[in-house]
Amino acid sequence: MCYGKCAKCLGITLIPLALLGIILNTLLFFPNGETGYNTPEKLAGTVWCFSGILGSGLLMVFPILVFMGMENNDCCGCCGNESCGKRFANFSSVIFAGIGVAGAAYCFIVSAVGLNEGPKCTTTRNSNYTYIFTNGDYLGNYTMWDACIDPPKIVTWHVTLFSLLLVLSVVQIVICAIQAVNGLIGFLCGECSCCGSGSYHNCIVTLSYRTLTHFLPN
Ligand SMILES: *[C@@H]1O[C@H](CO)[C@@H](O)[C@H](O)[C@H]1NC(C)=O
Repeated sequence: MCYGKCAKCLGITLIPLALLGIILNTLLFFPNGETGYNTPEKLAGTVWCFSGILGSGLLMVFPILVFMGMENNDCCGCCGNESCGKRFANFSSVIFAGIGVAGAAYCFIVSAVGLNEGPKCTTTRNSNYTYIFTNGDYLGNYTMWDACIDPPKIVTWHVTLFSLLLVLSVVQIVICAIQAVNGLIGFLCGECSCCGSGSYHNCIVTLSYRTLTHFLPN
């Protein structure tokens, strides 16, 4: 039986990614590793969306726990019906995969907006911290980065961390989408692969066969 093991493996993969999301977002509050900048006046609004901490981090706890429990849920059964229990476990994993996609999508959108609008910084001594870039124009032009004086190395810090969060959230979306498909197949095929009898492959073949014969004339 594949789907339980696959789900567990996907759940385990999500753990370091969620931790990394929390770490990357936390680092955004300390530009250049320095304290004293973590106020809403000095840091970009997107940093305060907590997208890595909440969306790619804490929210992932739910899909992680459900995916990792899938292996044990395989034959738990409900109402004295083993396949019913497996199908319910698969169905709930699809729901939680959806929650994971939503959290990661939130992180993806905030990261994209963060990269587009750039960081807040000062351009002269004692000036206010403002957004000095427009529509990501600075991303391909490193000379523009020098215009930011304070916080030190803020553009590098901002771009690196939000780029990593962007990639991380895409990976999380892919992992959750795989489990959504995996769980959906397990849900549809649950009745024909109980407790070691039958295989994942047989299920798909059987399901395709049933679907085909349903539409074919007798
Ligand atoms: C990069 O930015 C600088 C400073 O704003 C500007 O003078 C230069 O023309 C820009 N280069 C490109 C290739 O857009």
